[in-house]
Amino acid sequence: LQARAATASTGFAGFDDHMSKEIAEQPEVAARTIDALAPGVGDGSLWHGLVLPRFERVAVIGCGTSLNAGRVIASAFERLGGVPSTSFIASEAAETVIEPGTLMIALSQSGETADVLRAVDELDLSRSSLVAITNNEHSTLARRADSVLTCQAGPEIGVAATKTFVAQVVTGVATALSALVATGRMTPGEAARQVDDLKRLPDLLAHAIAVSSEALPPVVDSVLDEPGFLFLGRGSGIVFAAEGALKLKELSYRWAEHYPAGELKHGPLALIQEGTPVVVIDSGERRLESNIAEVEARGGRVIRIGGPGSTVPALGQSLTAPFPGAMDRWGPLESVVPLQMLARELAKALGHDVDKPRNLAKSVTVE
Ligand code: AGP
Repeated sequence: LQARAATASTGFAGFDDHMSKEIAEQPEVAARTIDALAPGVGDGSLWHGLVLPRFERVAVIGCGTSLNAGRVIASAFERLGGVPSTSFIASEAAETVIEPGTLMIALSQSGETADVLRAVDELDLSRSSLVAITNNEHSTLARRADSVLTCQAGPEIGVAATKTFVAQVVTGVATALSALVATGRMTPGEAARQVDDLKRLPDLLAHAIAVSSEALPPVVDSVLDEPGFLFLGRGSGIVFAAEGALKLKELSYRWAEHYPAGELKHGPLALIQEGTPVVVIDSGERRLESNIAEVEARGGRVIRIGGPGSTVPALGQSLTAPFPGAMDRWGPLESVVPLQMLARELAKALGHDVDKPRNLAKSVTVE
């Protein structure tokens, strides 16, 4: 990515395509979002500004990458504040019973996704509150919500969501921290520590871009002819496995599936044969080692994101020393970078248009 930024004549501000530009913008997007929201975390004022009542549980709703961002945010409420949380696929949510005292968070970068709009229209939210997290403050979703959090991502042109994922997660996690302080579930001191960790994120993302640019090309060469990919994670890594598989499908047109690694032996292990690529999101979970051994024993090609011996070694370092028990509790967010770049590099190598994948639209306004 960095090397390709040299020529300014491509129409993408020096990048080969919108997606590479948008991946490269992620450190700046994270920094901008954190700068805007951090002052309102420690005293709960970010949350109070939303004028929402107390809540007993959190539910997130969205589609695709926005749903994955929502799952990370739900995990922050649950793992950092002990708030029960759940997530709903918008297209399947209409008949779900929403319990009183639910904080419903709807995520959509466009704010125009038909499945999301229909769900928020049809759900009975009379005894709960709806917060929208969107990159479009003038969107239909923003108008329908009780409160709106606008992401600081700037326009995203590539169909594959990249920087809006980071902006949504950081916005949601900062809001979660503020809400936990405001409702007495977290001390201001602990929230300040969490914000300090968040502030390291822009550097981590930049580092992930630099390291992935170096490390990924040989990995991509080695899997060019593989028809299918498996993505594995445990705990906070599972949603990143889901996001990695989504990006790979969307851009490379190769089959990709994600699983909690513990489910491997209950079925998917049968898929593994000589050379099968298995991308493992190593969020530091000890039991992943035996899953990796199971894959390698059958000739699977493990691509480890994070952790010792990582294909992207610097990401592995970031998961151990800097964040003991902090950011990695809700998610190894920087691991999304090599996942985005793996999907893009593979798609480019296969000759696909990474900004406009076949059959897909940036904003899905039909159900
Ligand atoms: C992500 O790469 C996809 N293009 C897609 O899953 C997208 O996130 C989904 O359609 C939701 O879009 P939204 O955020 O505009 O609601």
